[in-house]
Amino acid sequence: MELKIGGVSVGELAEKFGTPIFVYDEKQITKNIDDLKKSITYPKFKIKYACKANTNLAVLKLVKEAGLGIDAVSTGEVFLAQKAGFKNEDILFTGDNSTEEEFQYCKDNQIALNIGSLFQLELFGKKYPGSVVMIRLNPDVGAGHHDHCITGGPESKFGIYIHKADEAKKIASQYNLKIKGIHSHIGSGILDPEVFMEAMNIILDEAKFFENLDVIDIGGGLGVPYHEGQKPLDLKLLGDKITKRMEEFNRSYGKEVTLYMEPGRYIVANAGYLLAQVVNKKSTPLYHFVGVNSGFNHLIRPMAYGSHHRIVNGSKIDSDVWEEVMVAGNLCESGDVFTKIDEKNAPYKIQNPEYGDILVIKEAGAYGFSMSSNYNSRLRPAEVMACEGKASLIRKAETFEDLLRGQII
Ligand code: LLP
Repeated sequence: MELKIGGVSVGELAEKFGTPIFVYDEKQITKNIDDLKKSITYPKFKIKYACKANTNLAVLKLVKEAGLGIDAVSTGEVFLAQKAGFKNEDILFTGDNSTEEEFQYCKDNQIALNIGSLFQLELFGKKYPGSVVMIRLNPDVGAGHHDHCITGGPESKFGIYIHKADEAKKIASQYNLKIKGIHSHIGSGILDPEVFMEAMNIILDEAKFFENLDVIDIGGGLGVPYHEGQKPLDLKLLGDKITKRMEEFNRSYGKEVTLYMEPGRYIVANAGYLLAQVVNKKSTPLYHFVGVNSGFNHLIRPMAYGSHHRIVNGSKIDSDVWEEVMVAGNLCESGDVFTKIDEKNAPYKIQNPEYGDILVIKEAGAYGFSMSSNYNSRLRPAEVMACEGKASLIRKAETFEDLLRGQII
């Protein structure tokens, strides 16, 4: 029996679009959004999808139809959000080490900005006195699934350190800037509600000393399970705690402020699958390797963070013949291995992988295609959206011509 994604079998997907491909389950994306909306019942709540997770226009359009806004970290992301039809007023720019050109792009397009350093706040204030801005604070705590993904605390490059918040106020008054919002994002892949609450409490304790706030933005970072049996984030519990804390804040602040959240991974991770075909098998004294026609140029998470992604044999999900194998990609690097447990190479049990079978790498919807590259001059794959038994191409696979783009011939 074959695995189906959005009601379409992997065999049919591979036949129609070739492999490797990213396939997204449309219904899963909308379900994730609905779950989030239902869990966080705070009335003035806005979700700004952190589109760095996946910027395919079809995904962005789905997110837009569901009524979400966008958190963009580059003007390229702002541009794509605009192309997907988002109104400028629904886009927030949370750049880091931004250039004057990026500030200018946002000003020209009337995009709200989050500024994450005193230096940049001053740079911005000098150029655009009298503007409205938001500032990003580093609450002195951080968390995340890997060191590279922790964005709070003293080791992090992000945000204005919380005990320097007063200096931000001084710069703001010097240049007549109105600070309308306080933002913080402590890291990515967090599964414990208490961790969010700790950071939120610190931020709100500081926010009360700012006058004229309209927005509190608690960032993204909502984790999803990648391991079999891993406990998901208790979104309902988190939602209740957030709502209660916001209501408390409003009472003491004397105003109902809007709450922003910027999830990326939560919206798309479990809706995406990377399909790769078995092209080789070999053994060393240590491992049985199964080679596939994809690599870390398509999904870098195992290589970059030692991230675990479940892999199933989509061509035979009901087989009861199992083999312990390492799944390796087609790049010329030893690190090009998809099978990781606790950040180390480790074989997975997979149903009898044979030549031509389609291996399905799960939870590949976030930071999959968006982090892909042409390393080894290999081509980026197509992307496909599947829904109720129908699959549509949402990005063509690259061709050799794409490797020449921008080259002076
Ligand atoms: N807001 C800001 C300001 C961020 O920097 C990020 C992620 C998010 C929101 C969304 O975080 P999420 O909800 O997706 O956790 N490439 C890594 C993740 C890097 C996240 C960077 N910032 C990975 O594949 O795990």
